[in-house]
Amino acid sequence: MTSIVKGILVSAPSLGKLEVHTPGCLVLEDGVITGVFDELPERYAGASVEDFGDCLITQSFTDLHLHGPQYPMLGTGMDLPLLEWLNAYTFPTEARFADEQYAREQYRALAAELIRNGTTRVCMFSSLHRKATLILMEELEAAGVTGYVGKVNMDRNGGESLQETTEESMRQTLRWLDECGQFAHIKPILTPRFTPSCTDELMAFLGKLAAERNLPVQSHLSENQAEQAWVCRLYPDCEQYWQTYAKYGLWNQRTVMAHCVFSDERERRAMQEAGVTAVHCADSNLNLCSGVAPVRALLNEGVKVALGSDIAGGDTVSMFDVTASTIRASKARRILDDWKTDALSVAEGWYLATSAGAAFFRAESGFAVGEPLHAMVLDDAALTPLPTAEERLARAVCRRQEGAVRAVWSAGRRVL
Ligand code: GUN
Ligand code: FE
Repeated sequence: MTSIVKGILVSAPSLGKLEVHTPGCLVLEDGVITGVFDELPERYAGASVEDFGDCLITQSFTDLHLHGPQYPMLGTGMDLPLLEWLNAYTFPTEARFADEQYAREQYRALAAELIRNGTTRVCMFSSLHRKATLILMEELEAAGVTGYVGKVNMDRNGGESLQETTEESMRQTLRWLDECGQFAHIKPILTPRFTPSCTDELMAFLGKLAAERNLPVQSHLSENQAEQAWVCRLYPDCEQYWQTYAKYGLWNQRTVMAHCVFSDERERRAMQEAGVTAVHCADSNLNLCSGVAPVRALLNEGVKVALGSDIAGGDTVSMFDVTASTIRASKARRILDDWKTDALSVAEGWYLATSAGAAFFRAESGFAVGEPLHAMVLDDAALTPLPTAEERLARAVCRRQEGAVRAVWSAGRRVL
């Protein structure tokens, strides 16, 4: 069925560039973009048009790193650095997801909040619980979120509350993979929590599984200096953190690594050469006093970079806020680098929050013909009028606007 959506179109076809149609029309065939026009061609005269007037129609967000079972602690526990924070707050919070009823309630609320905030693609950690992971996938699917979810693997250093045996971790992972084929829009991703959480045997198993079943992989990398030092102690045979993943086959173009705050030139080159995506989580990196990631260096060196909220190290689900934090963090990096690196522009931040993340799902950048629509309508009519779409987008990023997201499409379906 043909449908047409009309408004002020703003999209990010490449880093630092915005494409604007004032106004423009998206022509959809069963939710897939078949044309982007300033003026609707005559041949569509009879088709149904939804006209959003002066509202902005933008791409929706991709959150390439967040933890579903940390949603209950969102906005709390911001007083400890990573390793202490994991033991004091995070592991006990995640342990509660053994309770399926609790998981259902939390995950339903999270899924709804993602859609309300215009996030339609995710790459998400669940907890180690197989059943709760399936519940998370169900709730995201029902709300209209698309992307990847991973049952977390952790067979060491989880403390009393949150740990599996190696054998259990493998068995539950295989069973989870067998059970999650039912979802149309939510797919599995292998998820060794981070090197200190997984024994060699488990890492080797996951690497083999990734290769055999052609599965993507997500984990954490060089987030914090104490973590980095710990990994070096655990693997004296590896010179760098990334090698502890690479040696088990967990390092390729289907890998996303969150943080990369302390990835030096050599580690960044390893990412670029393997096609690994770095997920920058600016909110989390400041909340946990981790550091300020070298985003400009990553970009300049040709590493794929996308953004993550990393809730609940990050304190907000809103990718508007995460984009603003990303830009702010790039300014902190500029100061730390003696003004030698350039800060990110809004157009760059917007690209990282939308098209760059979508690329991990093999989607083309911007509003590309042939892609199912992932978009949102931003209504800023309550605020002071601004002359250009670019300025309005910048304000949408930098100023919180409750209720500004008026409509959302995910994989071609209207979900809000
Ligand atoms: N490293 C290992 N686990 C976690 C986690 O849950 N959050 C963050 N930010 N880093 C981690
Ligand atoms: Fe994380």
